[in-house]
Amino acid sequence: MPTLVIVGAQWGDEAKGKLVDVLGGQADLVVRFAGGNNAGHTVITGGKTYKFQLVPAGILHTDTIAIIGSGMVVDPKGLLEEIDRTLAQKPDLGTLKISSAAHVVFPYHRMLDVLEEEARGENKIGTTSRGIGPAYQDKVARIGIRMGEFVNPTIFEQRLHEVLAVKNRLLMMFGSEPIEFDALFKEYSTYADRIRPYVEDTEMFVADAVEAGQKVLFEGAQGAFLDLDSGTYPFVTSSHPVAGGACLGTGVGPLALQRVLGVCKAYTTRVGSGPFPTELHDAVGEQIRQQGHEFGTVTGRSRRCGWLDLVGLRQSCRINSLSGLVVTRLDVLSGVGPLKVATEYRTDGKSLRAIPANPWDFAKVEPVFEDLEGWDDHLCDARSLNELPTAARRYLQFIEDYTKTPVAIVSIGPDREETIVVRPDLIWG
Ligand code: GDP
Ligand code: IMO
Ligand code: MG
Repeated sequence: MPTLVIVGAQWGDEAKGKLVDVLGGQADLVVRFAGGNNAGHTVITGGKTYKFQLVPAGILHTDTIAIIGSGMVVDPKGLLEEIDRTLAQKPDLGTLKISSAAHVVFPYHRMLDVLEEEARGENKIGTTSRGIGPAYQDKVARIGIRMGEFVNPTIFEQRLHEVLAVKNRLLMMFGSEPIEFDALFKEYSTYADRIRPYVEDTEMFVADAVEAGQKVLFEGAQGAFLDLDSGTYPFVTSSHPVAGGACLGTGVGPLALQRVLGVCKAYTTRVGSGPFPTELHDAVGEQIRQQGHEFGTVTGRSRRCGWLDLVGLRQSCRINSLSGLVVTRLDVLSGVGPLKVATEYRTDGKSLRAIPANPWDFAKVEPVFEDLEGWDDHLCDARSLNELPTAARRYLQFIEDYTKTPVAIVSIGPDREETIVVRPDLIWG
């Protein structure tokens, strides 16, 4: 049962897309299990840059079957644009399938996302405005429209009538104009016509593949601390980016997950609001932002940058059952000078074992840092650990020792080739 889950171990943008592409060539199936087009997964290979938001990054491998799982929320217009854009870049993509149980994102979700953020005022979450929260709200409220309904014209018409009546009342309460049924139904029916051939019961398909011993890679989106339950609530997304989400969002049971790799940057970033104990507000933070081009793929927002938070990373190892770490963007730290990593949180003189559950407790958290030696050399040509400077090797060793989790892969540049596989034995079972 060679199955592998790839999750973000921090606050997203850890380079999951690159890793899914690197390992996707070995997989029969790549199944994404959470989120929607709030995600932005970048793959750079053969001189081309691909940006994935809904389509699993593994689709660049012609023989791979890429599946949009039931845990996802899918904006049909965004999806079709993404398919067209990617096909224009590479006509021989793998096969795409969409779960009939995935939920559909409509314009009223996007409008409500923006209106709800405005209403939160100073406490806004800093969402991507893609309608993600409102679409998951509908799923939980049991009024969401799923892919299987969307691609059935009679059922779609009936469901949209029901739901739009409710949504229009909400929109008007916020002072917005209601959405006109006929225009919305007409426009979205054209999308449904194009999407229909991709939609099927992917849960059985994935289950059969796992049963048959095929290699199945579960692609995560976002990161552990954006998880609705395990993250820094309420500054989180509305789905489950942690490894357990791979079960919820694809229909496999927990014992079907054999290996879990957690992707983490060699430092930390966060987009949007919310606690970030190791955030840097000085010239070093700015240097990391510039060297790492830390600007969001989806919204272009500047990413908040800070030192590596090992307290958080250790927690991530625990909540995701990580079998190995993938440390990315180690090259970005070249020339930054002496480095710091947080090894403890203190509050009121007490040591904390984990990120506090309540946001108001965060204000009191003081990270305790350990100083580590930096390095100046460029790393992107290294293809084995031995070719890295001693200080960079020590940095990786420190992460391993602290988290008690082996570093399986190191990424030293955005290209598919700029990758050092340290522990191939930790990748597939
Ligand atoms: P994801 O959301 O986790 O897939 O990550 P994003 O694609 O949003 O952001 C990661 C960014 O880092 C992308 O622009 C990648 O091309 C880039 N990248 C990936 N790995 C490396 C690396 O090791 N070094 C550098 N410098 N950039 C990387
Ligand atoms: P990938 O998969 C980084 C953040 C948003 C915001 C919060 C809630 O590329 O790592 P939402 O639109 O989901 O309701 O926004 O979550 N966020 C991400 N941050 N990477 C992502 O995805 C993210 N997806 C959502 O910035 O703070
Ligand atoms: Mg991203």
